[in-house]
Amino acid sequence: MLKIAVLVSGGGTNLQALIDAQKNGIIRNGRICCVISGKEGAYALERAKQNDIPAYVVARKSYSSVADFDHALTEKLKEAGADVVVLAGFLSILGDEILSVFENQIINIHPSLIPSFCGSGYYGLRVHEEALKYGVKVTGATVHFVSKVVDGGAIIAQKAVEVKDGDTPEILQRRVMEQAEWVILPRAVSLFCDGKLKVENGKVLILE
Ligand code: GAR
Repeated sequence: MLKIAVLVSGGGTNLQALIDAQKNGIIRNGRICCVISGKEGAYALERAKQNDIPAYVVARKSYSSVADFDHALTEKLKEAGADVVVLAGFLSILGDEILSVFENQIINIHPSLIPSFCGSGYYGLRVHEEALKYGVKVTGATVHFVSKVVDGGAIIAQKAVEVKDGDTPEILQRRVMEQAEWVILPRAVSLFCDGKLKVENGKVLILE
């Protein structure tokens, strides 16, 4: 059974999707061992408590440098014995230490079809605002391994979602979450825990 650490900063609906997937057997070979929030008061912490999952806050603003924050986060994850780290709406950019200790073990969910609407500054609602501004007819979500390039790591899964006339960023965000994020994130974590993901030449192979 692999230990899954989930890093959050906000509402935690993707965390909820992982909790549900664990309960209903979609994730069979992993268990959420802890939730770490980058922010005090994030509702995701409440979800962790309601499900008896140990929850901690490691906030960037409590540390004087990125390196100190990075070290504290890495230590917390080591202490929890994490085998895989899932960024489920985690706001802070990760540092070098965590990326080297957990190489190819950190999974992120991003609310667009990478390489569109991604990279530094593309977070949450902003991603959907930009998609609507551009006028794309299809958007979606991407699950990928985290590398030093923001949103540039090897892609595990993607799912397309239709953009409809009259969409607001909020309406589009909700549709992308329901139809894509909450589906592909638990599935990708499940594949990781089953040992079915392999990174080769910067690309993900899904083993049979
Ligand atoms: C999700 O839409 C996730 O894809 C996005 O933040 C939201 C968090 O919601 N992440 C990013 O934009 C990362 N660049 P949640 O707290 O309800 O899961």
